[in-house]
Amino acid sequence: MDPDGSEQDPEMKKYSSVCVGREEDIKKSERMTAVVHDREVVIFYHRGEYHAMDIRCYHSGGPLHLGEIEEFDGRPCIVCPWHKYKITLATGEGLYQSINPKDPSAKPKWCSKGIKQRIHTVTVDNGNIYVTLSNEPLKCDSDFYATGIFKVIQSSS
Ligand code: FES
Repeated sequence: MDPDGSEQDPEMKKYSSVCVGREEDIKKSERMTAVVHDREVVIFYHRGEYHAMDIRCYHSGGPLHLGEIEEFDGRPCIVCPWHKYKITLATGEGLYQSINPKDPSAKPKWCSKGIKQRIHTVTVDNGNIYVTLSNEPLKCDSDFYATGIFKVIQSSS
């Protein structure tokens, strides 16, 4: 049986879900990496929710699986270990702080650059974690580092 037609259509096959591990394991480690249809992703387990995204940072290809999770403006973000860019776990938006130099009393305000990191879908079935790659047509900056010569991340980088 092939309910999503992925066996017939190789293009569709790229978007079939792939089992990447066990729920009990990621709940302990709170993150894991996986290769899903030739694309490297990181999966985070944070405050009871799963999030998956391209493993390399949209800015310059930094290893997001080695970053820390922090909250900015009430939004959980992965902070890239290379240049500290902040990426929301839920949407892949790049956050930055802006200030109005003409207003001395103004406090810096958190703003979004828009979606920069490609987010993928995580589902759990019978204790197994599945990732389905995003087929969102929107171009994400992280796509550049998810393909070609950049796509193989070194285990210790
Ligand atoms: Fe991630 Fe520069 S590579 S912040």
